[in-house]
Amino acid sequence: MPTDFERIRRLIYARAGIVLAEHKREMVYSRLSRRLQHHGLVDFKEYIDRLERHPDSSEWDAFTNALTTNLTAFFREAHHFPLLATHIAGRKTPVRIWCAAASTGEEPYSIAMTVIETLGPTTTSQVQVIGTDIDTDALEIARAGIYSVDQILKLGPERARRFFQRGTGSRGGLARVHPEVSRLVEFKPLNLCAPRWTLNGPFDVIFCRNVMIYFDRKTQAEILQRFAPLLKPDGLLIAGHSENFTQMESRFRLRGKTIYVLK
Ligand SMILES: C[S@@+](CC[C@H](N)C(=O)[O-])C[C@H]1O[C@@H](n2cnc3c(N)ncnc32)[C@H](O)[C@@H]1O
Repeated sequence: MPTDFERIRRLIYARAGIVLAEHKREMVYSRLSRRLQHHGLVDFKEYIDRLERHPDSSEWDAFTNALTTNLTAFFREAHHFPLLATHIAGRKTPVRIWCAAASTGEEPYSIAMTVIETLGPTTTSQVQVIGTDIDTDALEIARAGIYSVDQILKLGPERARRFFQRGTGSRGGLARVHPEVSRLVEFKPLNLCAPRWTLNGPFDVIFCRNVMIYFDRKTQAEILQRFAPLLKPDGLLIAGHSENFTQMESRFRLRGKTIYVLK
């Protein structure tokens, strides 16, 4: 008989491609215990049985959301953004950029801010940033575009002033992404391991950062294969700092630090 943890591992792998290592056991139990509490259950086995019995239940989203890791930040891995700016400067419009693990929105908004700084606000009606993620709770936060002032201040005074609206009164510690930025960004749920993606190319740039690390090599190779036809011939695929696809049979070759282009 598989243990509860073994069953949970198989379910999240089948649904989201996420490989849960043995050392994540405690974290998994702690995160899912909130779902059990929500349903008034005390037994993990019963929770898992229910999930398996109801493949269309909305609990599947809650289960998945509980097991994703959403760590992100504005201008994380900052060296990618000047490269993005150089790539889009002077390009034929429309410019389309896909952020394939958008989490709570900081990454796609950083992309949009870079677009505005590079192309100027007037040409940006021809620019589209699409942020997708499997985690529907994270996407809710992303759509709201409200962050703590502490996060915003790390961007420096100029970006903080230009791209955010500071809250007042009870919202004093919060700041909202300026509509000039948010109107460039559209958020949609998308599971990178789903058999079909509800999104059309071609894109000038695909950001796929810090999500492939949760997948095994087979899943990574399949996703890379599916990215290739969605990228313009001279487009960029931007990966996270610990993601390396050079040893993999794929249609991409490394062009710079964690930046890939089509072969
Ligand atoms: C660590 S965050 C990275 C966020 C951002 N790209 C960055 O680098 O700051 C990983 C994100 O991948 C998402 N994710 C995990 N599995 C996914 C899947 N199968 N399809 C789409 N997104 C997934 C998670 O929900 C999470 O928001």
